[in-house]
Amino acid sequence: MASERSPPPPATDGRTGTNTSLRGDYSRADGEYVVEQDWAAYTADEHALYVRLFLRQSRLVPRYACAQFLDSLARLDAGGAIPRFDAVSVRLRQATGWELVAVPGLIPDDVFFRHLANRRFPVTVWLRKPEEAEYIVEPDVFHDFFGHVPLLFEPVYADYLQEYGRGGLKALGLDALGYLARLYWYTIEFGLIQEGGNAGPSAQGTGLRVQGNGLRAYGAGLLSSSGELAHCIDDLGAQRTRFDLLRIMRTRYKIDSYQPRYFVIDSFKQLLAETRPDFTPLYVKLRGLSEFSAEEAAAEDVPA
Ligand code: PHE
Ligand code: FE
Repeated sequence: MASERSPPPPATDGRTGTNTSLRGDYSRADGEYVVEQDWAAYTADEHALYVRLFLRQSRLVPRYACAQFLDSLARLDAGGAIPRFDAVSVRLRQATGWELVAVPGLIPDDVFFRHLANRRFPVTVWLRKPEEAEYIVEPDVFHDFFGHVPLLFEPVYADYLQEYGRGGLKALGLDALGYLARLYWYTIEFGLIQEGGNAGPSAQGTGLRVQGNGLRAYGAGLLSSSGELAHCIDDLGAQRTRFDLLRIMRTRYKIDSYQPRYFVIDSFKQLLAETRPDFTPLYVKLRGLSEFSAEEAAAEDVPA
């Protein structure tokens, strides 16, 4: 599974799939890879680029993002400059008990899971270069903040992410990280939600996708992407399948192109309920099952 990375995944907008060395400054990180954000060190150009990225996505999200994301984004009011993590943490702690920690970039799996399990969300401190506005390989502060942080204000989603962290620590001990990483990918990074419950396949058979049918993005890789956010909802060639835990854990993913398939939940409550049971027997079962490529359809797939 060389093409599959454990969370946090390397990709946000476009993906190259090449794993070059990490670009952050790890020299000042503590044992849990936490650094000072050093907000004063951001340049005026960096703030300006952040604002440009923020405005670009802000124009897209009303049409494509889930309601909880839009609510939180509006209340965050974080579009005027690169946000101060400390200030956001104060509000986040009040809302759901989460806080942000600054990290130099990608961190080891066990460290990442420990942060999540303790309701700490690691946010990369550095910002992409202007030439990476459309396309970046590693997560930067824009992806991490814009894509991930607003939903941390949503109580059920917030619980799910903590459970994921606990599940990650457990999966490490069971040598099952490859399976669990797929769940991260297909929910936290590239998940879709059918608002108002499952309305069935939209305009199935007509070749048309009805606008405003309540299909929305909640995955951070989508929410922070200039191209894939519209693609995942509007594109008729993208496959959308109802959430199915076992199916997801059997499905490889692409890190170097748009996803050929998205998995659609009805609600965060459903997501949490279906992932709450102990995965230990599931991991055992998975070892005896074949895998699906990212493109391949399965007989039991239910279109969403
Ligand atoms: N129930 C999972 C387990 O036993 C933990 C988990 C919860 C993982 C939610 C991911 C998301 O491992
Ligand atoms: Fe991410």
